[in-house]
Amino acid sequence: MQVRFESVHKTYRRRDGTEVPALAGVDLAVASSEFVSLVGPSGCGKSTLLLIAAGLLPPTSGRVVFEGDAGGRPRTAVVFQEFALFPWRTVLDNVAFGLEVRGVGRAERLERAAALVRQVGLSGFESRYPHELSGGMRQRVGIARALCVDPAVLLMDEPLSALDAQTRQLLQEDILRLWETTRKTVLYVTHNIQEAVFLSDRVVVMSRRPGRVREVLSVPFPRPRTEALLADPEFGRFCHRIWSSLKEEARAALEETHGDGSPA
Ligand SMILES: Nc1ncnc2c1ncn2[C@@H]1O[C@H](COP(=O)(O)OP(=O)(O)O)[C@@H](O)[C@H]1O
Ligand SMILES: [Mg+2]
Repeated sequence: MQVRFESVHKTYRRRDGTEVPALAGVDLAVASSEFVSLVGPSGCGKSTLLLIAAGLLPPTSGRVVFEGDAGGRPRTAVVFQEFALFPWRTVLDNVAFGLEVRGVGRAERLERAAALVRQVGLSGFESRYPHELSGGMRQRVGIARALCVDPAVLLMDEPLSALDAQTRQLLQEDILRLWETTRKTVLYVTHNIQEAVFLSDRVVVMSRRPGRVREVLSVPFPRPRTEALLADPEFGRFCHRIWSSLKEEARAALEETHGDGSPA
């Protein structure tokens, strides 16, 4: 399924009545089965854009259009940075949660959840509780839970940011493999340029707040990709090219927060 942002604006209103313009006209189309990453300075509206796509937050103006037949599937599912698992549910019941909400019968949902648990490499951990798992395993559960409802579009908001560097690298490869088998439409937020390039078909660089699309780059590296790509000098050059674009925005955003230390 394709997702298209048309002139999406969002202005938050604080309790004291002041307005915070977060997005100032985002236009972007993500094709069916495309993996697109968003990078941009902190506070530029990346999470806001994902929440709007998920239907969890209304835009102030503009719209998000989904095109293509979802075939009765949910349009979107979100993977958040903070895992957001239910501590009182086992791995299997966490993964099956979305199906339960959708009224899928117990036998079927447990069977589908078990298949997803296997797919993310957690066989043998079905009956464990979240507190018994490492951060990397917890996020695999988060990913399995989102995939279990078979969403037409998968939205991921810095899913690996809470993990240590090695675990992060391993999960990047897991996500790459999962995408190669499922071919989901994915919109992926990260502040890590290497991660964005390694995973994506295209990388969107956003401007500082209020966010707009500054630049869109097609990633030239063929798939299937392996870790060896990370050592390729061309890969380094391409990442640097993105950083040059992002750096101007990041520096300006940093200077705008100067003074009282609070975000501009
Ligand atoms: N509920 C809210 N009320 C007021 N301002 C908000 C709210 N949520 C986010 N913001 C502000 O909107 C801007 C964009 O936030 P966010 O989408 O979280 O950015 P990002 O994910 O790119 O870091 C930030 O300046 C943030 O402080
Ligand atoms: Mg965010």
